[in-house]
Amino acid sequence: MSAQDLLDRLRVHGAIPRHVAIIMDGNGRWARERMLPRPVGHRNGMKAVREVVEGAIEAGVEVLSLFAFSQENWQRPPVEISALMSLLEEYIQKEADELEAQGVRVRVLGDVARLVPTARAAVERVVGQTAHNTKLTLNLFISYGSRAELTRAARRIAEEVAAGTLRPDEVDEQAFAARLYTHDCPDPDLLIRTSGEKRISNFLLWQVAYTELVISPVLWPDFGRRHLYEAILEYQSRDRRFGRAPA
Ligand code: IPE
Ligand code: IPE
Ligand code: MG
Repeated sequence: MSAQDLLDRLRVHGAIPRHVAIIMDGNGRWARERMLPRPVGHRNGMKAVREVVEGAIEAGVEVLSLFAFSQENWQRPPVEISALMSLLEEYIQKEADELEAQGVRVRVLGDVARLVPTARAAVERVVGQTAHNTKLTLNLFISYGSRAELTRAARRIAEEVAAGTLRPDEVDEQAFAARLYTHDCPDPDLLIRTSGEKRISNFLLWQVAYTELVISPVLWPDFGRRHLYEAILEYQSRDRRFGRAPA
């Protein structure tokens, strides 16, 4: 079935997920299969990012969250880290105008203070340039770890309580969620992980409490909009109960 046929199908099949999150995995294996260095896999992964952004807009998704670089990824060899950082800068520089034209609001979530100054500047520029857009919110998770995000929220709450601006009995789920990077986004409805790995790898631990998970065997550089649409079709066939008895 073509991507267009899939899109037509999912439009009548059920509700479109408001928020889709993706753990973009498998670049290294994609390169290894071709006996190429890992950074070549990362470079080819940029094409897939373009595809899913366009696909998400076409399908009417409101928020697309992409896990691009984890806190744990800082433990990779320095050559791979610098390749990833320059690709990030290159992606942002190349795509900024296109994203702007598409009506995409870009946001970067994570410990951006750890980025090299040029990457950080590029990130800040695109975030500022696209801040007014409303068609799609693109959350790029860079230097992100969910446990770090959660402990940061806990620390903020502790500071506010110590300062007397927050009472302990005001600390509820809403107050906690309000101190996460994702404070103004709905929780993901659908989480896709590519490359067949069946784990969360420290991504959005709080936010995925009732998210539907779809594991795709496709390696990230081969992931296209049709794979996104297939995942949405699978999502639409799920019965989301949120702990309630079946209807
Ligand atoms: C995903 O691909 C990109 C990042 C984590 C930055 P990997 O680099 O993890 O590729 P594999 O898992 O080794 O195939
Ligand atoms: C998760 O992939 C992080 C990103 C996709 C950015 P990893 O490849 O780093 O995760 P593990 O090591 O397989 O769990
Ligand atoms: Mg991986």
